[in-house]
Amino acid sequence: MTTLTLQTPDDWHLHFRDGDMLQETVAATARCFQRAIVMPNLVTPVTNREQAMQYRQRIMDARPAGSRFQPLMTLYLTDATTADDIREAKRAGIPAAKLYPAGATTHSHAAVSALDRLASLFEVMSEEDMLLLIHGEVTDSDIDIFDREKIFTDHHLSAIAENFPKLKIVFEHITTKDAAEFVAESANHVAATITPQHLLLNRNDLLVGGVHPHNYCLPVLKRNIHQQALREAVASGSHKFFLGTDSAPHEKHNKESACGCAGCYSARSAIELYAQVFEELGCLDKLEGFASHYGADFYGLPRNGGSITLTRQEWQVPNEITLPNGHSIVPFFAGKVLQWKLTHTSMD
Ligand code: DOR
Ligand code: ZN
Repeated sequence: MTTLTLQTPDDWHLHFRDGDMLQETVAATARCFQRAIVMPNLVTPVTNREQAMQYRQRIMDARPAGSRFQPLMTLYLTDATTADDIREAKRAGIPAAKLYPAGATTHSHAAVSALDRLASLFEVMSEEDMLLLIHGEVTDSDIDIFDREKIFTDHHLSAIAENFPKLKIVFEHITTKDAAEFVAESANHVAATITPQHLLLNRNDLLVGGVHPHNYCLPVLKRNIHQQALREAVASGSHKFFLGTDSAPHEKHNKESACGCAGCYSARSAIELYAQVFEELGCLDKLEGFASHYGADFYGLPRNGGSITLTRQEWQVPNEITLPNGHSIVPFFAGKVLQWKLTHTSMD
């Protein structure tokens, strides 16, 4: 096979950031995705409809000429989020709200400190058909960082899923065998996104031969049995697992630092990275469901028209990308050679 054509895909989990960074990030995603679920963890988090609509406009303004890319906005849940915030957001076309346990990751200090106080919001979200997107890690300082996802699943997520059977839940960027099993065994209102880095790498890629800051993301890479389980999950072709890159740019100096930021910037090569994984697994035929069908179906949105075509062609991920402000980003998989390249997009 030398070309691979897919119905136009979407990215169901992404960080664009703000300001002049949008020129880079929006173009990179609009290159191949029709829609993206945009994370709300800006420096000042996106906590209400008005902020979300303003942010949406800044993203729309940053689209390359002729692009039909559509951002799908999300609301950042806090201890102060009200039922009206949810209803207003839903009325404005915001399909989902994001739950970060406070302190779990980048810009999450203003997020939710008491999960057990969210029950009434989850009721409203169920009624309104607003999805709950979860960063599934506990934040207790005495819990080992490699165990945080599993403990969140056992102590919180399983109860939320059981108590709110009408609430659609996306367990974001899952990283463990336990999470993959939990999702596979849950009822159909629970699904998960999986990133390219968690399919391609394990914690050796973070720590062997020195610290590799550009492979540092949260939830952190786990041991290889977990990577293997995630690869099996996508190879299974289950509709419960779909594409969410968690592309999360940080300037190079903030990654290569004594206290480096978490996040891999994969948008420039996202679909090619996934194609590489699916080819390694011998299941390129499953890529279209994962990238273009299951996410839209779960969100209750129409699948996209149009298509993208990848060609078997070696190319090298750039070592660095210069931002409009003159600083640079080191993209995920920098300098590595990929086997598939996006060569064509068609709008109909
Ligand atoms: O690695 C990550 N980076 N994980 C997250 O949950 C947040 C993200 C970011 O915003 O940089
Ligand atoms: Zn994220």
